[in-house]
Amino acid sequence: MRMNIALVKGDGIGPEIVDSAVQVLETVAARCGHSFAFTEVLAGGCAIDAVGIPLPKETVDICLQSDSVLLGAVGGPKWDGLPGGNRPEKALLGLRSAMGLYTNLRPARLYPALKDECPLRADIVEKGFDLLMVRELTGGIYFGDRGRREGKYGPEAYDTEAYSVMEVERIARAAFEAARKRGKKVTSIDKANVLETSRLWRETVHRIGANYPDVELQDMLVDNAAMQLVRNPSSFDVVVTSNMFGDILSDEASQISGSIGLLPSASLGDGRRGLYEPIHGSAPDIAGQNKANPLATILSAAMMLRYAFDLEDEARMIERAVDKALEDGCRTADIARGEGVKALSCTEMTAAVIERL
Ligand code: IPM
Ligand code: MG
Repeated sequence: MRMNIALVKGDGIGPEIVDSAVQVLETVAARCGHSFAFTEVLAGGCAIDAVGIPLPKETVDICLQSDSVLLGAVGGPKWDGLPGGNRPEKALLGLRSAMGLYTNLRPARLYPALKDECPLRADIVEKGFDLLMVRELTGGIYFGDRGRREGKYGPEAYDTEAYSVMEVERIARAAFEAARKRGKKVTSIDKANVLETSRLWRETVHRIGANYPDVELQDMLVDNAAMQLVRNPSSFDVVVTSNMFGDILSDEASQISGSIGLLPSASLGDGRRGLYEPIHGSAPDIAGQNKANPLATILSAAMMLRYAFDLEDEARMIERAVDKALEDGCRTADIARGEGVKALSCTEMTAAVIERL
């Protein structure tokens, strides 16, 4: 199989972790007779520095022409003072939107090898968990009207949350389809006791759910969901929620798996082309120090093989190598706790995974 993959390395630890995933992909390609051609494009802070805007048109064009896109992370303190429309994060939101990637799949599970890293109580850890967060990615408050204005108490700022029936229908379908291939349960998370968008969300999810009688549907308020994630995470199978709630809850889910450095994601639309990105940010505090955990990006590359290229065996091969590395005690600094545990560098962890492919 010959595939063109666009690489958006981005900022902070982005270049290091994307390089790791590329090495893994190249090893898999050589092993299994595929050929992946990589094209690097600029987005985020590095694009602001190079050409003055976070998401150059050339980047969008190349991503749209590629068979798939692998992204590291964008943003950093250097660009924090810029106005909202010209911040690095705008590149990520703009790219997701331009590519029509409204479904973000964020799997989170407890790795048996990392039980000791889980901050939860032993009896909860014992039960384990394996959930898939389906986050709506191109709507809601991250894309609504925002601005500054004169309000009742003087100058104020506002952001608006809006969801159309169509946007909720398509993300609900994605969640039910995913649940059919897993534990056949969907938990839809909203704030329907307060928000009108949530009431429309709930109504719509139920209407779509009626077409999936084999899948159990449960509603949960977001505040309760934040609690249940640490109290009883094994009760979740597929979780479907809005852009902002999904952003927040997926970070929470990552912490109970051990580290935010472990969670991959796939951003998908109606076609096969997608964007694959770790859920974490650019970690400017450790950028350029070869300390980052590359596993979330390596696992994102595995998701790419699975969803974009239908290469299930190759995806499993990567996931198994990551499992094995963790079982063998390989740890980057974020998951190296306890006495005598040596933290591997980003390149050492990458080599450890490649050795086990
Ligand atoms: C994520 C990130 C992004 C988001 C930021 C960097 C815009 O937090 O992918 O979760 O909110 O989607
Ligand atoms: Mg986030």
